[in-house]
Parts: sequence; C-alpha cells; structure tokens
Amino acid sequence: MNKIKSIVIAGLTVTVGLVSCDSGNVRRTPGHIYVPDMTYSRAYDAYTSNPNFEDGLTSRRPVSGTVARGHELPDHLAEGDTNAYKTFNTELRFNDAKLAEGKRLFNIYCGICHGTALDGQGPLFTLGKFASMPANLKDAKYLHMPAGQMYAAIKYGKNMMGSYASQLDIRQRWMVIAYIKKVQSENGGAPYTYAAAAEVAAAPAEAAHAE
Ligand code: HEC
Repeated sequence: MNKIKSIVIAGLTVTVGLVSCDSGNVRRTPGHIYVPDMTYSRAYDAYTSNPNFEDGLTSRRPVSGTVARGHELPDHLAEGDTNAYKTFNTELRFNDAKLAEGKRLFNIYCGICHGTALDGQGPLFTLGKFASMPANLKDAKYLHMPAGQMYAAIKYGKNMMGSYASQLDIRQRWMVIAYIKKVQSENGGAPYTYAAAAEVAAAPAEAAHAE
C-alpha cells in the first residue's frame, strides 16, 4: 500500500514538473480581466487635461480660504501698514520645547546675520560678506520693539534684510519671535509673555492639532 502511494506521489510530481516547465507554448494574449473598471481606473490622471472643468486642469486648487490642517489662519497683515505692525500680536503660547524649536529656527535662518547671541554679530556680517549691520536685538533700540514689527520684518523683510515668509510658516515665525523676546526679557527687555500656561495644560491643545 505504501509502495503504491509513493509511486502515485512520484508520478504526480513528475507531471506537475513537466506541465510547469512547458515554455514552448508562449501565451501572447492576457487572461480575462475580472471587473476591468478596477484594473483600469476610469479616474482622470492628475496631470492629464480634463474636459469637465473650464480651465481643463484635473489637479484642482483647494477652495479659496482653505487652511491646511495644523496651520494658522492667514494673518491679514498688509505690507507697509506700520500702524498695524505696532499692535499686531498672537494668541499663540509656547512651551519649553516650542521655545527650543524657535531657537533652532533662529539659529538656522537668522543667526547667520543677527548672530546666535542676537547681538548683530553673525558670521556673514563679521566676515565682511554682508555690508549692512544686522539689527543688534540686544540693543536698547530693539529691546522693546513691538512683536508685530518683528513679525513684519520676517514676513516682508526690512531694507537689506529679505523676507523669510517662504521659509517660516506663521507659527514658526511666532516661535522665533517668542525666542527673541525671551532672550530680550533676560537682557533688560520687557517681561516675557509667550509662555504656555503650563506644560500640562498645553499638551491637549497640541494633541488636537496633531495630524
Ligand atoms: C542676510 C542677513 C539677515 C538675515 C539672515 C536676517 N536678518 Fe534681520 N536684519 C538684517 C538687517 C541688515 C537688518 C537691519 C535693517 C534696517 O533696519 O535697515 C535687520 C533687521 C531686523 C529686525 C528689525 C526690524 C525693524 O523693523 O527695524 C528684526 C526684528 C530682524 N531683523 C529679525 C530677523 C529674524 C527673526 C530673522 C530670521 C528669520 C532675520 N532677521 C534674518 C539682516 C538679516
């Protein structure tokens, strides 16, 4: 009985082997497709033209006024409106981690000119590569500068300083300003006001923003 079993198994193995090795009969036609709508999408590809829209574009812009998740509402601060600069401010508050992030961003984007000590002695200036003296943010002239004016300098630039609006989103700009204000408060400036009420209280609000 066992012998017959082994013979049958051996026979089957050989047959299966032979059938699967039959490469002489190359198939030129694909098999039947089950639900072709799923195999070949009927949706428009993103970069193809589209007869359903007047402008012919398949990729649509977000509805105007859309705010990306986790981003701030637009600031509506108009360039040159210096009166508005003075009173412009934010409701945002920052815990220690966010303040550290503000410092990191400052050192990347601003320190090259304003110096990581905020004294206007960044390497671009001290090495003579940048002729105009960057603001010494520890100087009396800037210690009490309204936060909104700083915001305007970041958003629109100021004379020789270019705009940093494309590098820093609204929240990041305020993080950088909070960091400057924190350092200024420790160097004779006004008391620091951007601290989150408590790290614990800040956590759930942060979580609500998380993606
Ligand atoms: C390429 C060099 C350079 C970089 C980088 C730079 N600044 Fe400036 N910044 C200047 C110069 C120069 C001035 C002085 C402008 C003037 O008053 O003519 C200035 C002025 C300022 C002022 C004072 C604005 C005013 O109204 O007088 C602030 C605040 C400021 N910068 C913040 C920043 C911040 C924050 C960053 C980083 C996001 C930054 N700067 C990056 C060169 C730079």
